[in-house]
Amino acid sequence: MIITSAEFAKSSEFLDQCPTTGYPEFAFIGRSNVGKSSLINMLVDRRSLAKTSGTPGKTRLMNHFIINEKKKPWYLVDLPGFGYAKISQSERAKWKKMVRTYLEERETLRCTMLLVDIRIEPQKIDLEFAKYLGEDGIPFAIAFTKADRQKPAVLERHLKMFNEAMSENFAEMPNMFVTSAETRLGKDRMLDFIESVINTPMPEKETEEEE
Ligand code: GTP
Ligand code: MG
Repeated sequence: MIITSAEFAKSSEFLDQCPTTGYPEFAFIGRSNVGKSSLINMLVDRRSLAKTSGTPGKTRLMNHFIINEKKKPWYLVDLPGFGYAKISQSERAKWKKMVRTYLEERETLRCTMLLVDIRIEPQKIDLEFAKYLGEDGIPFAIAFTKADRQKPAVLERHLKMFNEAMSENFAEMPNMFVTSAETRLGKDRMLDFIESVINTPMPEKETEEEE
């Protein structure tokens, strides 16, 4: 897929403030500082479209970026990170409500990218978030980040460990991408995936009737 334009569209604190155009969207979620904003910039080839920072907790709102506005538009959505220790209980509760409401109710959300730092061994908080997405039937893929920062053998070991841990909860594995915002590893594969999802008709909504 060729990205011809990428622009900031809107920041939202609540679901009902999100854009109402109906264009398909892809959300990026993961621990604070995992590289969500950097990965978005890498995909669109823009150095600082999404604000990045060495300080965790930079992204506090849901940020919509509109891609290819003139022709077949879609959105990339930068979500605030989870697991940041230095925030109050009330901020944490607010985050949870904002993000979960968005993930569970946003009708145009086609796939959520759960970002996982591949430099380190599988973290409980990431596995639990994947489990939540799976249990709630929220379509998601895994994007491993910062692959440039670790030796190939260690990456392989971490990938294997992550897969093993995931297989305890998942019969079928989600799509997985190994990426680096530095080297642009994974960019084409990820954009091809996004394109294929955009081109797949939306599944019929399940009705919640009891048998
Ligand atoms: P919050 O918005 O705070 O939740 O963080 P985030 O997940 O958006 O992370 P961000 O993109 O701001 O990146 C955090 C730090 O990691 C920055 O210093 C980035 O430069 C660095 N970083 C992100 N991706 C990569 C990568 O692939 N390789 C390397 N070497 N550094 C990266
Ligand atoms: Mg960010």
